[in-house]
Amino acid sequence: MERKLGFIGAGAMAEALIGGVITAGIVAAPDVVVTNRRQRERLAALEEAWGVRTVTTKRALTDEAGVLVLAVKPHDVPVVMRELEGLVDPARHLIVSVAAGVTLSYLEGNLPRGTQVVRAMPNTSCRVKESATAVCFGRWVTPEARNLALEIFGAVGEVVVVEEDAIDAVTGLSGSGPAYVYYLLEALVDAGVRMGLSRDVAGQLARQTLAGAAKMLEDTGEAPARLREMVTSPGGTTMAGITCLEERGFRQAIMEAVRRATERSRELTLTD
Ligand SMILES: NC(=O)c1ccc[n+]([C@@H]2O[C@H](COP(=O)([O-])OP(=O)(O)OC[C@H]3O[C@@H](n4cnc5c(N)ncnc54)[C@H](OP(=O)(O)O)[C@@H]3O)[C@@H](O)[C@H]2O)c1
Repeated sequence: MERKLGFIGAGAMAEALIGGVITAGIVAAPDVVVTNRRQRERLAALEEAWGVRTVTTKRALTDEAGVLVLAVKPHDVPVVMRELEGLVDPARHLIVSVAAGVTLSYLEGNLPRGTQVVRAMPNTSCRVKESATAVCFGRWVTPEARNLALEIFGAVGEVVVVEEDAIDAVTGLSGSGPAYVYYLLEALVDAGVRMGLSRDVAGQLARQTLAGAAKMLEDTGEAPARLREMVTSPGGTTMAGITCLEERGFRQAIMEAVRRATERSRELTLTD
C-alpha cells in the first residue's frame, strides 16, 4: 500500500492529522499532499508550516496519493463524491473519512465497488495529539490498510476499533466529551469565584486539578471509582461535595447528556 497521504480538506482536523503523522514519522512531509475548495492562502500556510505539497484538483491529488483522507464538513461530502467520480481506483486507493455522521455504506455506495473505506470519529484533542478516536472498517478493507489507519490515528492520540453501529455512542461520549469536561471546568471556576477566590487562581487550580486527575488515571491504572473512593473519607470535605453531586443528579445528567448526543448523532447521519 502506498503511504502517500492526500488530504481532501485543509481545515482544523486535516492540519491536526497532518501534524500528527509527520511528527510521528508515519510519512515524510513531501509524501503528504493537500487540497481544499478555494482558500489558496490556507494551502500556502500548510506548505509553510509543515513542508507538505498542495494541489488544486482532485485529479492531481488522486494521481499522487494512495490514501485519501476525507476531511471536509459532512454536508460537503456529496460534492466531493461527485468530484471523485472516475478518479478512485479500488486497487490503489484507501479512503479514510473523518466526516461525522457519514456512513461506510454511503461512502462505499458512492465509490467504485471494492474501494477500501475507513470511517473514524476523532475528537478535538487531535490538535494536541490526545484524541480519543474510534475507527470502523468497510467491507473491503485489508489488514494492511487497517494497520495504516490505526497508525494514522495513533499519531494523534488513542484509537479503539468499534463496529459501525457504535459510532453514534462514540460521538455522544468522546466526540462531544471534551465539551462536557470544559463545561465542568467552567462550573468549577465559577464556584471557586463564588467561594472568594480570584478568577485567575480558580482557573489555575481547576485546570491543574483536571490535568492531575487525568494523569493519576493514566499513571496508576486504577479505576476512576477507586481513585474517587481514595480521596473521599467518611464525614470529610470531599464526601460533602460528592453527596451534593449525588443529590443533584450529576451522574444522571451526564448519562442523559451522552444519550441525547448519541441520538442527535443518529439523526444527523448521512446514509445511502
Ligand atoms: N474538528 C473536530 O474536532 C472534529 C472532530 C471529529 C470529526 N471532525 C470532522 O472533520 C471534518 C472536518 O472538520 P474541520 O473542523 O477540519 O472543518 P473545516 O476547518 O471547516 O475544514 C473543512 C475543509 O474542507 C474543505 N472543503 C470543503 N469542500 C471541499 C471540496 N469540495 N473539496 C476539497 N476541499 C473541500 C474546506 O476548504 P475551503 O476552506 O477552501 O472551503 C476546508 O479546508 C468534518 O467532517 C468533521 O465532522 C472534526
